[in-house]
Amino acid sequence: MKLILLGPPGAGKGTQAEILTKKLGVPAISTGNILRAAVKNGTPTGLKAKEYMDAGKLVPDEVIIGVISERMAEADCQEGFILDGVPRTIPQAEALEKAGVTFDAVLSIEIEDEVIVDRMDGRRVCTTCGAPFHVRNMPPKVEGVCDSCGGELKERADDKPEVVRDRLAVYHKETAPLKDFYAERNLLKSVDNQPTVAETTTAILHVLGL
Ligand code: AP5
Repeated sequence: MKLILLGPPGAGKGTQAEILTKKLGVPAISTGNILRAAVKNGTPTGLKAKEYMDAGKLVPDEVIIGVISERMAEADCQEGFILDGVPRTIPQAEALEKAGVTFDAVLSIEIEDEVIVDRMDGRRVCTTCGAPFHVRNMPPKVEGVCDSCGGELKERADDKPEVVRDRLAVYHKETAPLKDFYAERNLLKSVDNQPTVAETTTAILHVLGL
């Protein structure tokens, strides 16, 4: 199974990718998590990406295409993968096509901007493995501690309301056009955000016919 998860910041792509990866037995590839790890480790990619990420802007396409090509070539991706947060621009989607990568489906999570702005102040993310939690909607078993790896949970620097609004504007301008791009290829499937994570998972599995 090769799947793309599309949707605005905070739509629940990372949350659903974590769940689907266990159900489908293929890894999730999150460019956001890869870039945050690169920033934390001070690698050349991280140094390039940091200022864009802090400002809520997109990291240049050539950096992303390099990152994703390397990750997709790894052994655990040979049976499939779930892309979370990539492609994010038409040139990124075209680069995947040019590289001969084909997909079974492109799933767009539909959610209104105001729901996202309201939601983001409660998000907490594992500083070790990147798993997302929410203080109200998806609390960890122990406050401040990741259920998956025991890492420390923190707010993300780009979840401040003013940066979230900038990220939403970037989504509408640069990423939303991908819905038409993939609809033209008969790959687009959409689900409306549901009040809980579990209900959204059910809707996704239904639309994917799983
Ligand atoms: P990235 O990390 O990809 O951020 P994003 O796309 O903005 O998405 P988020 O991680 O913020 O949200 P999500 O949809 O995964 O939501 P989540 O599951 O956490 O990118 C960060 C930055 O990196 C970008 O701004 C850019 O600079 C750079 N970048 C990354 N990829 C790039 C690319 N391809 N090209 C260029 N630049 C790139 O859920 C959010 C919260 O809601 C959680 O707390 C969760 O618990 C809760 N929640 C989820 N679902 C529900 C539900 N149904 N009901 C209630 N609560 C819910």
